Amino acid sequence: MSDVTVVIGPGGIGQAIARRISSGRHILLADYRQEAADAAAKVLENAGFETTALRADVSDRASIQAVIRKAQSLGPIKALVQAAGVSPSQAPIEAILKVDLYGTSMLLEEFGKVMAQGGSGVVISSQSGYRMPALTAEQDALLATAPADALLALDFVKNVESTMHAYQMSKRCNSLRVRGEAVNWAKRGARINSISPGIIVTPLANDELHGERAEFYQAMLKKMPAGRAGTPDEVAALAALIMGPEGGFITGSDFLIDGGATANFYYGPDATKPA
Ligand SMILES: NC(=O)c1ccc[n+]([C@@H]2O[C@H](COP(=O)([O-])OP(=O)(O)OC[C@H]3O[C@@H](n4cnc5c(N)ncnc54)[C@H](O)[C@@H]3O)[C@@H](O)[C@H]2O)c1
Repeated sequence: MSDVTVVIGPGGIGQAIARRISSGRHILLADYRQEAADAAAKVLENAGFETTALRADVSDRASIQAVIRKAQSLGPIKALVQAAGVSPSQAPIEAILKVDLYGTSMLLEEFGKVMAQGGSGVVISSQSGYRMPALTAEQDALLATAPADALLALDFVKNVESTMHAYQMSKRCNSLRVRGEAVNWAKRGARINSISPGIIVTPLANDELHGERAEFYQAMLKKMPAGRAGTPDEVAALAALIMGPEGGFITGSDFLIDGGATANFYYGPDATKPA
């Protein structure tokens, strides 16, 4: 038995975080596409890690419970990386809400029951959540704390009008959800936070940069105060700080890492939104 890192959705970002935080641990990689889990396992095995690859669907509670059983058979679950997600150009509204909003919320409920003492989790949210049209305090509270099974029936969630709005709603929920869950996770001596990246070069970002919203994303990239896109390794460096011993006082928080895109959106020269 060795300590275990569980990575759900080991794509560009999930894999980079796993590699950075998992020395001496077994890494369990679970992805909707078995071939993605296998490919990540191969890369990480060649980098010195013990790995197990599984097919799993983050929007299916039974599937996540099976991942947990497998992880527990390998050792105590010290880290959870929730990096599974679909973007506005990759899926219809229903799928985005089911995977990104419901799936992440349900997953946090399930892992909150089994994390090892001193364990830590991170959810990959998005700067998109910061561009949401304002929600009421009551709506925010529901996104943070309503049972996961009730979320998709909420009127303001059901009524999203586009895949972009569904993605923004989901990511707003992810960042609020860790606040709601931090209290539950603390009962097991575990911490949970989220990271909200801007454009980070991965297969998902490439789909956005060259898909139906290419113009919007290319414009965002051009206006980025940092002058470039980010890399998965930069997200992993932040995750390592939050999840490791130096982050021991951090829980229930969201961290923007977007090269200044949100700052530019609200306060840049062509900002269209009030502060
Ligand atoms: N790359 C970016 O620019 C960026 C920016 C902000 C937020 N994010 C978020 O980061 C997370 C990781 O994205 P990435 O850029 O590493 O993308 P990626 O495409 O490299 O990885 C995402 C992985 O999630 C898996 N997945 C999709 N649906 C799933 C499901 N139902 N169950 C299990 N696995 C599933 C995919 O198969 C893929 O392997 C996503 O939630 C994304 O929204 C990415």
